[in-house]
Amino acid sequence: MICCLYEYALPLACYRTGSIYFATARAICCCYEAICCHLLPLLLLSFPMGNGDPRGERRRGAKSAPLKNPRGDPRPRDSRGRGWGRVDTLHYLCRIYSSVYRMQKSSESIPHSNEVGKYADVNWDELGFSLTPTDYMYMAQSKEGLNFAQGTLTPFRNIELSPCSTVLQYGQGLFEGLKAYRTADDRILLFRPEENALRMKKGADRMCMQAPSVEQFVDAVKQTVLANKRWIPPPGKGALYLRPMLMGSSSHLGVQAATEYIFLVFASPVGSYHKGEATLNLLVENKFHRAIPSGTGDIKAVVNYSPTVKPLAQAKAKGFSDVLFLDSVTGKYIEEVSACNIFMLKGNVISTPATNGNILSGITRKSIIELAKNSGYKAEERAIPVDDVFDADEVFCTGTGVVVTPVSSITYQDKRYEYKTGKDTVSQQLRAALTGIQTGSIEDKKGWTVEIRS
Ligand SMILES: Cc1ncc(COP(=O)(O)O)c(C=O)c1O
Repeated sequence: MICCLYEYALPLACYRTGSIYFATARAICCCYEAICCHLLPLLLLSFPMGNGDPRGERRRGAKSAPLKNPRGDPRPRDSRGRGWGRVDTLHYLCRIYSSVYRMQKSSESIPHSNEVGKYADVNWDELGFSLTPTDYMYMAQSKEGLNFAQGTLTPFRNIELSPCSTVLQYGQGLFEGLKAYRTADDRILLFRPEENALRMKKGADRMCMQAPSVEQFVDAVKQTVLANKRWIPPPGKGALYLRPMLMGSSSHLGVQAATEYIFLVFASPVGSYHKGEATLNLLVENKFHRAIPSGTGDIKAVVNYSPTVKPLAQAKAKGFSDVLFLDSVTGKYIEEVSACNIFMLKGNVISTPATNGNILSGITRKSIIELAKNSGYKAEERAIPVDDVFDADEVFCTGTGVVVTPVSSITYQDKRYEYKTGKDTVSQQLRAALTGIQTGSIEDKKGWTVEIRS
């Protein structure tokens, strides 16, 4: 009864919110279910009983209960082993019908956000890099060292964790970030998602965690995108940001790796990471460090980010966009910015700090190195003394969030150095080449994009 009410209430709610076709379809399904699964069985049970009906036998005075088929067939037979009557057959068919209908219904409930219109109700021109909760998230669990079970899509919601889970106690957690783009001809593209999957695997290995396979990772991302399709911004207005997360979920009071893990993917439409700032003003941080040698600087561990919050907040309070971290041993070499990699251009040479174990090997960084080489620049990965940066022609940052964002100034020990920005810069040229591939306006000859088909 409650189920029926729910089924009728839902179409009504949809109707009131304007989704009339969906509501009508649902209403037809509900009537169908009500008749097949509730009304018909009731009628049949109260019908005058036929030969093989167990209740009929009892009415006629049969002493023993109807026997089950000896091979375990649940279909009832009478005490003399006779087959079914007409009523039994109808009843049985009805039950099969009802379970098939329920199976159909559960596959129907695999979310597809197109049911309720092409676009969600979002002011796409106002998007920045903050969370806009979407319809669904993906979640899978791994227990007792076993591979992750098949995940499911559920409505976006809070999750339950033990206060003693290893992610909360010891920061045994990793995350990733990638985007889904809507192309001008309405296709959906991901950019190098296997690279994110591999980076999560590398991180999981360092942190003694169970990781999803590359296939499961990519499949989870695809499912999350499709379920939240209406949240993918229109072409040119941003992208759907995917945040895959891996966390130790079992409880351990002493320091150790978890025996259970959660792999979760949620999504949010995003625009510019530094909303309102076309160029960045960086502050070189010489007190706090982001990573230490042989630490976790080269993986996307949650523990890498909390130490950057204080210097970042302090820099922002002084009017800077972000912080440029130096190496923690000598304090002489640049490493990276709080959530992106850094490049400098001098003449025909593009340089970026080598991934020495302290720096996150950005997927955008890797792609920009390749695109720069293809455009005739010499690309170097090396240790870059902070003094070299002051002498650069251009400086720019790369990352999934910031894409390719030019740096207009760097301030170090109260001295400000300025760089060329604007239309005719190499950073703009590289940004156009990258975003063209990501959004499908430039042919992807490198096989970097993955199309998601519904
Ligand atoms: C610390 C850090 N460095 C670099 C990057 C850039 O990596 P990617 O280009 O893979 O997004 C990110 C963002 O993920 C980051 O958090």
